[in-house]
Amino acid sequence: MLGKIAVIGTGNIGAVLVQELARRQLAGTVAAVDVKEPDVAKGKCLDISEGRPLIHSDVKLVGSREFDIIAGADMVINTAGVPRTKRPDGSIPSREELLTVNLKITDTVAGAIKEYCPEAMVISIANPLDAIVYRLYQQLSPLKSRLVGMAGQLDSTRYRFFVAEAAGVSVENVEAMVLGGHGDSMVPIRSACRIAGLPVTHFISEEVLAQIEARTRKAGGEVVGLLGSGSAFVSPAWSALEMAEAIIFDKKKIIPASALLDGEFGVSGLFVGVPVLFGKGGVEKVVEFELTDEEKENFQRSIASVQKTVDEVKAMG
Ligand code: APR
Repeated sequence: MLGKIAVIGTGNIGAVLVQELARRQLAGTVAAVDVKEPDVAKGKCLDISEGRPLIHSDVKLVGSREFDIIAGADMVINTAGVPRTKRPDGSIPSREELLTVNLKITDTVAGAIKEYCPEAMVISIANPLDAIVYRLYQQLSPLKSRLVGMAGQLDSTRYRFFVAEAAGVSVENVEAMVLGGHGDSMVPIRSACRIAGLPVTHFISEEVLAQIEARTRKAGGEVVGLLGSGSAFVSPAWSALEMAEAIIFDKKKIIPASALLDGEFGVSGLFVGVPVLFGKGGVEKVVEFELTDEEKENFQRSIASVQKTVDEVKAMG
């Protein structure tokens, strides 16, 4: 258990995070901050606190519109930002289209982390994921091991779910990894997908797998289309908690996440989804392995798309 975990933004994802942090008892105090009036963060914390007797949790939940509430946090989970939402004409925007508005919000968040908890481990969820994490890096310049983006875990759990359904097996039997940027060019790694230790192709045809991989790349948009307003929030929150638990309990668990690369997979100076070994030091290691030629090509294409968005971030100063 940590002393204090801060949740920035208590919209859809933030609210699930607060209740799960309380239920799982991952910190003595959870401090939530949201700029939304009249005082949404405080309201959500009060609602969840009033239910604490029912989930046997003595975790203290405090919410505020003021950032000083996060002072001294050991870990920050950042969800502040506008989500994608279906347009009136039915089309779904890309995550990259959120950049301009979410960059401004991220600068506020970075300022607060710098002022109130500069040593905190930071897990960021806001989109466009890899570019927003890069912006936090620009603003905070923390040790690269203490800053990471949550995306690969979510994309991989979606891939696992689709594979389990197609194969008619338990989701627990499926291992999978989705790497690269958290955009439509993300890369499901078929060569790393296994069902009960056996290659996935033993259970599912190449043709069906290709359909599953295409669905995985667009899975976030599929939910956006169904919700009508806003984007997926339960599975993203659970995915971030998987990373938080690996760090808090020093699990040495390998989870795909957006980490700063320094030559790994042939990439430098960008945050991109790669397999990360998480422990109490945060990103303790990027686990490199050999991709197939096709995966390599797709990974390069995905990197190019992250680079393009990061170039926009750099151009915005
Ligand atoms: N400081 C704190 N909170 C902020 C700030 C800010 N500067 N700006 C906005 N927020 C809050 C909003 O008031 C809102 O309550 O962030 C919250 C975001 O919640 P939702 O709109 O419900 O969005 P959510 O579904 O939680 O997604 C958050 O994660 O997956 C990404 O694309 C998604 O960028 C989006 C982010």
